Amino acid sequence: MHFTRITRLLLLVASFVVTSAQDTSLAAVKAAFEEVNIPEDIFITFNPTVLLEVTLPEPNARDIILHAGIHVPLNDTAGPPSYAIRGNAGKGPFVVAVIDPDAPTPGDPSEADYRHFLGANFFASHRGVLQPLTNTTPAISDFLMPTPPAGSPLHRYTFLLYNQPAGFNKQTLVNSTTPVPSWNLSSFAEATGLGQPIGGTFMLTGPNPTT
Ligand SMILES: *[C@@H]1O[C@H](CO)[C@@H](O)[C@H](O)[C@H]1NC(C)=O
Ligand SMILES: *[C@@H]1O[C@H](CO)[C@@H](O)[C@H](O)[C@H]1NC(C)=O
Ligand SMILES: *[C@@H]1O[C@H](CO)[C@@H](O)[C@H](O)[C@H]1NC(C)=O
Repeated sequence: MHFTRITRLLLLVASFVVTSAQDTSLAAVKAAFEEVNIPEDIFITFNPTVLLEVTLPEPNARDIILHAGIHVPLNDTAGPPSYAIRGNAGKGPFVVAVIDPDAPTPGDPSEADYRHFLGANFFASHRGVLQPLTNTTPAISDFLMPTPPAGSPLHRYTFLLYNQPAGFNKQTLVNSTTPVPSWNLSSFAEATGLGQPIGGTFMLTGPNPTT
């Protein structure tokens, strides 16, 4: 009886840690990206200088703050996420991009990069340790929740933060009607002067378990 109560308490503490532990170390985020080959697979150089904090709103539970490599059940990923910066990146503007390099499956990513979000004109709303980002214009490409097909292994849904260069708002490569599959974020970043990301994180999500 006593043992069971302690076990339950430990499980509770463990689940709290899993759902609320945000990224706290640039080195750990970089290592997590490298461990699963994200920089290589999406053709970026990843040397983050700030932490990108991504929060998934949950209607019936505590909101989920991502940390690099967190496993989030599909049903908890409806979003749309909110974003914040830990670290000093100035007040903006910033661009946030979310891609799936594993679409439709990690073994055959023929639709990578699948664009799950692209938004510009994000500004840090106040100075402090955690600076929430406010988007002052509608998303270029609205957030789409993950839809990994049945039977697929976990996908690496990757969130990246960029400094927004002058003139970015005049880009015509992507708008709300541009097909989301088979995008190339890296070549888009090159063409629009985004350069390399200054922060990022990722979550692992697969299809709902079948019974
Ligand atoms: C996810 O949500 C769907 C639709 O509401 C539900 O049928 C399913 O049981 C849920 N799956 C899990 C694993 O919670
Ligand atoms: C989106 O871009 C396409 C291709 O460049 C263009 O034909 C279309 O008019 C644009 N749509 C909007 C809403 O700007
Ligand atoms: C995407 O763009 C990068 C940078 O331009 C390029 O190196 C890479 O080959 C492209 N990826 C694909 C799959 O075409």
